[in-house]
Amino acid sequence: MSILVLNGPNLSRLGKREPEVYGLTTLEDINRGLRESFPERSFEFFQSEDEGALLEKLFQIEDQGGCIGVVLNAGALTHYSIALRDAISAVHVPVVEVHLSNIYAREEFRRRSVISEVCAGVISGFGANSYHLGVRALLGLAG
Ligand code: DQA
Repeated sequence: MSILVLNGPNLSRLGKREPEVYGLTTLEDINRGLRESFPERSFEFFQSEDEGALLEKLFQIEDQGGCIGVVLNAGALTHYSIALRDAISAVHVPVVEVHLSNIYAREEFRRRSVISEVCAGVISGFGANSYHLGVRALLGLAG
């Protein structure tokens, strides 16, 4: 049983993008760190700048089966994508919402997440460790 680590728009730019907010760690570093911390787990990593591709990935893991859950950093889609929210509701795998930054300590528009209500829980503000905590949360849910 695998875990999908799903990243939305602009997260491919980690390491170069606003390092004062997101740090110097790249997405590849984060993914490698997860593999090293959970060597017994199988991961799938997927990132896209495209909302539709993220929805399709969620439907694909649902249809294929064998996925215990999703660690999702939806980037800015967090704040406005009803399509992503509906896709999360439509699938039967738990989704943990994660953010590198503390979205509640930033601009007003980031304080609202339209996906939190349909996610199993939210982890925000711990940098790359948010992803590790997200994996732990999923493993806890899976028992
Ligand atoms: C983010 C926070 C979002 O507000 C922002 O649009 C991102 C990254 C985070 O990980 O802190 O792209 O999801």
